[in-house]
Amino acid sequence: METRIIAAEDENMKEAVAAASELLGRGEVVALPTETVYGLGADATDPAAVAKVFEIKERPAFDPLIVHIASVKDLHQVATVPEEIDKVFQKLISAFWPGPLTIVLPRTEAIPDLVTSGLDTVAVRQSGHRVFRGIGRGFGKPIAAPSANRFGRISPTSAAAVMKELGGRIPLIVDGGACRDGLESTIVRLEAGEKRPIIHVLRPGPVTKKELQNFGRVVVAKKRLIDEQPEAPGQLASHYAPRTPLLMFDKPEDFQPEPWKRYGLMSYKCDPKAGYTGAHEWAMVESLSPGSGKLAEAAVRLFHVMRTLDEAGLDAIVAEPVSDTGLGQAIMDRLRRAASNA
Ligand code: TXA
Ligand code: MG
Repeated sequence: METRIIAAEDENMKEAVAAASELLGRGEVVALPTETVYGLGADATDPAAVAKVFEIKERPAFDPLIVHIASVKDLHQVATVPEEIDKVFQKLISAFWPGPLTIVLPRTEAIPDLVTSGLDTVAVRQSGHRVFRGIGRGFGKPIAAPSANRFGRISPTSAAAVMKELGGRIPLIVDGGACRDGLESTIVRLEAGEKRPIIHVLRPGPVTKKELQNFGRVVVAKKRLIDEQPEAPGQLASHYAPRTPLLMFDKPEDFQPEPWKRYGLMSYKCDPKAGYTGAHEWAMVESLSPGSGKLAEAAVRLFHVMRTLDEAGLDAIVAEPVSDTGLGQAIMDRLRRAASNA
């Protein structure tokens, strides 16, 4: 299959919306930009279209998809909001929607079992990406979209990265430029709680724990493994993994290179004080935050840098940890998962 790329700039935004909506309406699967990562979209109400998403991604059917709505008015089509969490839900969506926050809610009948892997809940998000919103409105139905990578691999943050992952498997990639956040959305589940609502973070992401704390008590879910019905299967230990082994150490001295092997360094800021840049004669060094953007810049660049190092034919990649605070928690989450299969 030939994969077309349409750049959704101002002058051909209409063409991109029309082409994507038409394909979605025919039960096809298309790659679309969001503010977090590129998604592989399908009509969320069409089981055959959703089945194609699983097939194209080579994704096991126990891993449910996120459903994207174009407007809060459409929420009732896909989910219900129980009375006891309605207040916190409303506050969260007025603070973070449209945006990189996904909320798990009881699902409606319109959502096929395949989307939720048989769970009685559905993960819902309203993307704030101009192009994604345009296509959502043009298509007029909820869009189920996981990240547009093959299962267990690095999420794409550009149209070129989608092409590398899924070129030849899908008819269309809508190019909306580089993703603003670069990390997948924060996923939460809400509970009434006794004094304050409880916000369970199932996957850390661009909306940080600190930001959520304004709305309730935040509990970060522990890692869950594949053999249970995973609460957020993005929590599978090995996820977001490059093909090249990725190593992470508590301190730089723990790195014991094997002779003749070529190691690349994924550094945070290439700060010599961190102890990594001078620890070895690296075959390649890439910085997550070469500018002054710090953690936000590192988040945006993470999957791109991981992919660059992965394509360099190294024997292993050593990842320097970033600070485990704020957005750093989501970055460290992705790094630990990438490292867990080394
Ligand atoms: O930023 C994002 O969230 C991107 C863009 C495309 O929206 N999407 C994304 O989708 O990261 P995906 O499929 O790669 O990750 C979705 C995660 C999975 O780990 C899945 O386990 C979790 O959402 N999930 C989906 N439905 C769920 C549910 N009912 N309960 C708990 N977790 C759920
Ligand atoms: Mg994913």
